[in-house]
Amino acid sequence: MKIRIILSCLALLALAVAASAQKPIPHLEKRGAATQLIVDGKPFLVLGGEADNTATSSLEYMNSVWDKIAKVNVNTVLGAVSWDWIEPQEGKFDWTLVDGMLDGARKHNLRIIIVYFGSWKNGLSSFVPEWVKADQQRFPRARLKNGKPVEVLSTLGEASQQADNKAYTALMHHLREVDSTQRTVLMIQLENEVGLIGDSRDRSAPAEAAFARPVPPELIAYLQKNRLALWPDLRKLWEAAGAKTAGTWQEVFGASAATDEIFMAWNYSHYMEVLAKNGKAEYALPVFSNTWLVQPEDLAPGDYPSGCPEPLTIDIWKAGAPSIDINAPDVHLRNFPDWVARFHRPNNPLFVPESYGDLGGAANAFFGIGEHAGIGYSPFGINNAERWGEAPPRGNAPASTDVSQIPLARAYAILAQMTSLITDAQAKGTIGAAWLTTQIPRKDIALGNYVVNIDINRSRRNPVPALGYAIVVSVGPDEFFIAGRDVQIIFTPNTPGPEIAGLSKVETGKFVDGKWIPGRMVNGDDVVLDYHQAAAAGNNQSGSGLIFGGDGPMIQHVKLYRYR
Ligand code: DGJ
Repeated sequence: MKIRIILSCLALLALAVAASAQKPIPHLEKRGAATQLIVDGKPFLVLGGEADNTATSSLEYMNSVWDKIAKVNVNTVLGAVSWDWIEPQEGKFDWTLVDGMLDGARKHNLRIIIVYFGSWKNGLSSFVPEWVKADQQRFPRARLKNGKPVEVLSTLGEASQQADNKAYTALMHHLREVDSTQRTVLMIQLENEVGLIGDSRDRSAPAEAAFARPVPPELIAYLQKNRLALWPDLRKLWEAAGAKTAGTWQEVFGASAATDEIFMAWNYSHYMEVLAKNGKAEYALPVFSNTWLVQPEDLAPGDYPSGCPEPLTIDIWKAGAPSIDINAPDVHLRNFPDWVARFHRPNNPLFVPESYGDLGGAANAFFGIGEHAGIGYSPFGINNAERWGEAPPRGNAPASTDVSQIPLARAYAILAQMTSLITDAQAKGTIGAAWLTTQIPRKDIALGNYVVNIDINRSRRNPVPALGYAIVVSVGPDEFFIAGRDVQIIFTPNTPGPEIAGLSKVETGKFVDGKWIPGRMVNGDDVVLDYHQAAAAGNNQSGSGLIFGGDGPMIQHVKLYRYR
């Protein structure tokens, strides 16, 4: 009897030890000024790359590219899992591709963000299983103004929602079973760039009926509660129509295509909320949506997918899908700073699941993470990263195909070194970043006792580089770590005291396991932009400064002093 009691105590103890050894589930956490992704108990920056849509439908193909992907210094791959691949026959699930993707990632010390192509992928319903495509009675399609159905499931199809919910929750259940120990999967992107293309709203009979009904009270309550914080254009629409607290969609928001878009945003978010919520009940990973942004040539919703969480409709998504943690932008446009500013909001942390992977992508990664407390960055097409090699500097030499040397790989290597410094600074609000071009050549960032004056590097470059970027972390009143490429930086005092700034000490170096290891001591030609200016200390700015060339990025540690 005694032995049995001892044995069961030991078994209980073993269970308790196993449970406590389990890594915590990846989750979002508000830490000071930032909401961060916590992985294995620590803030994590997603240095990501998304694979082409169907790359992960072949394990053989993925096995041929994992090594190359890892060389880009990514720590996370965004890979697709489609409804069709996991439930080719109704009710029969096949996890071969999911398990194979996790296995490939683990062997390369990489994490995964699953991009779930369920009911919609870029507006269309092309990744639903054949048995869904075939049965349009049970899984009704959206219709356009011309009365024709399109290859898009209607958001009003209850059976579609239930079937997608079943597949998605089965996926989350499976992840809980296979990944609760290693936590390879960090987050889920639910669906992909949803929204109706070709019309501003679904004109199927159930959708027309829903459009004629009153706006749901939950949405009205959200508008009322958050009135002052609403996106200004949304608030304007609502107030211009009288800020009504009841009425049809057109009565509440006015009769325009924007109202159709709001209606679609509510319906998509409502459909996806069911999946997000039930999926979290199985396995509570953070969930985000991704948005196909309005392109410059688009005139109206329907030119771009109507109902996607665009800046105008993010509030609608927050009301309709509170279980979706982040509405993320896919920034396939070059004015990255403008777009991320529209998506980073107090209730919407910044994560960029798709964008560029070239030199511009390196600048984007620095900027999103440094200026907007970004959780991470991910260019699209990581399995073909050699395309992002830099143009050869001269002659006809081919661009480097060594992906570890492309601008993005170098930028990720620096961000990886600086992760704990950066995430601490995000929480404290002691970080900023610059993204400069020849059109936007200057940025001033006030941090510590100084304004950090950042210019595109004109010092010894001819022609002036097209792009420069930097991340600036203040670690004390007179001390900074700055990483960047093709920028030149001087400092202006910003607090009472001696009014002229000077460089006290500058060094290059690297972080190893979070510890700074100094390298060269930087001085002379490497800090003097112009010896006349250096001697004159014009405008109280430090005459000398930091110079970051075009072969970086690199990290510099600077201590300043002041004199009068
Ligand atoms: C945006 C989509 O979300 C991706 O799946 C992919 O199709 C890219 N566009 C291609 O650029």
